[in-house]
Amino acid sequence: RLDERGRRVFELTARRGRHDFGNGPVATWGFNGDYLGPTLRAKRGEEVVVNVHNRLTEATTVHWHGMHLPAEADGGPLRMVDAPGTWSPTWRINQPAATLWYHPHPHGSTANQTYQGLAGMFILDDPATDVAALPHEYGVDDVPVIVQDKNFDGDHLKGRGGVFGAIGILGDTVVVNGTAAAFLDVTTDRVRLRLLNASNARVYDFGFADNREYDLVGTDGGLLAAPVTTRRVMLSPGERAEIVVAVRPGERVVLRSTPPTLGAGALSDRISGGHDTLDILQLRAAATLRATKPVPARLVDVPRFDRAAATRTRDFSLADTKINGQSMSMSRVDARVVKDTVEVWRVRNADGQPHTFHVHDVQFQVLSVGGKEPPAELRGWKDTIYLRGDVTYEIIMAFRDYADPNRAYMFHCHVLKHEDQGMMGQFVVV
Ligand code: C2O
Ligand code: CU
Ligand code: CU
Repeated sequence: RLDERGRRVFELTARRGRHDFGNGPVATWGFNGDYLGPTLRAKRGEEVVVNVHNRLTEATTVHWHGMHLPAEADGGPLRMVDAPGTWSPTWRINQPAATLWYHPHPHGSTANQTYQGLAGMFILDDPATDVAALPHEYGVDDVPVIVQDKNFDGDHLKGRGGVFGAIGILGDTVVVNGTAAAFLDVTTDRVRLRLLNASNARVYDFGFADNREYDLVGTDGGLLAAPVTTRRVMLSPGERAEIVVAVRPGERVVLRSTPPTLGAGALSDRISGGHDTLDILQLRAAATLRATKPVPARLVDVPRFDRAAATRTRDFSLADTKINGQSMSMSRVDARVVKDTVEVWRVRNADGQPHTFHVHDVQFQVLSVGGKEPPAELRGWKDTIYLRGDVTYEIIMAFRDYADPNRAYMFHCHVLKHEDQGMMGQFVVV
């Protein structure tokens, strides 16, 4: 819906519900419905308003993960929405086409609220750089695949208590868009899957059961310059990938996660899901398939950052629930960044637990991994990366358009238990 000023208006109501993942109804939370939330979709240049209504019994906040926007609208832990209450952030879409998402971000309760079901996809389009040859019929050959792992205990999700490793919840049941043992009826000879790892802690290494090749066409913040033909893409919590896979008439093929290379240490890898194989989604191809266009050899321009453009380098070491030895404080700003400058951040996992690194507001590029060129799947726009133990990741980014000395953005580990424990910091753009 457009309002009288031409802004695109969305309504999101966080509430409790009951949802059937496949084995009977379970108590859940959702936006508008019982579990997860609607896919929001907007175009570059459009102004959006989201009316976030809280009908839970506790405060929440909604963060637009991957969005470039003023700190005021970012929905971090400083911008709480009381229960009951409403918050109506507004901003202009100001970035390339991408698969983003939204989820709660209240400090200390992000893991539980997200696990109960508060999350959704936010797709951005950019008419000026639209790649018409990519499958783009939503729900037909362009399909959101929100991947989560759950544990069930009778009629509720078992998210607290019990025996969890240091990374928090690892579920034994994979659900896709809220459905266990999910399948997709495919009617075209190619299908684009927008993979979102919306799990609390689990890392997946996505491939197909028959080990077929597919094209990786997009990462967190947009399309790649050119498709990368591959058999595996690893996604840690919060990361996205757009892939295009070809299918033959009548066949069934399973999207499967094989053991991810966590690189945290032998014991830590095992108790963190590093040995698990999980079926994610079965593709069931129709007996006759409508032909789609081949994936073009070139997709969009992705200008590379030049290291020499950076005016400042910062170091971040993640260990023992802290970043640089400090736990998240709502009243401490950890970094002040100057608007319209480029910085290099050197990030390191220093404690042998699986960690990731996510930065609000920006899309960054990976300059190096352990001193080497990044692998192909890390050459596009990213806002979240997995950190293997004792490897330094250099990322480069520009802080453009928005400055506000009084409102902070966050950077943090996206393993939600770690984030809640305080492995998070704040930066302001001035
Ligand atoms: Cu998806 Cu600050 O998080
Ligand atoms: Cu974010
Ligand atoms: Cu972590």
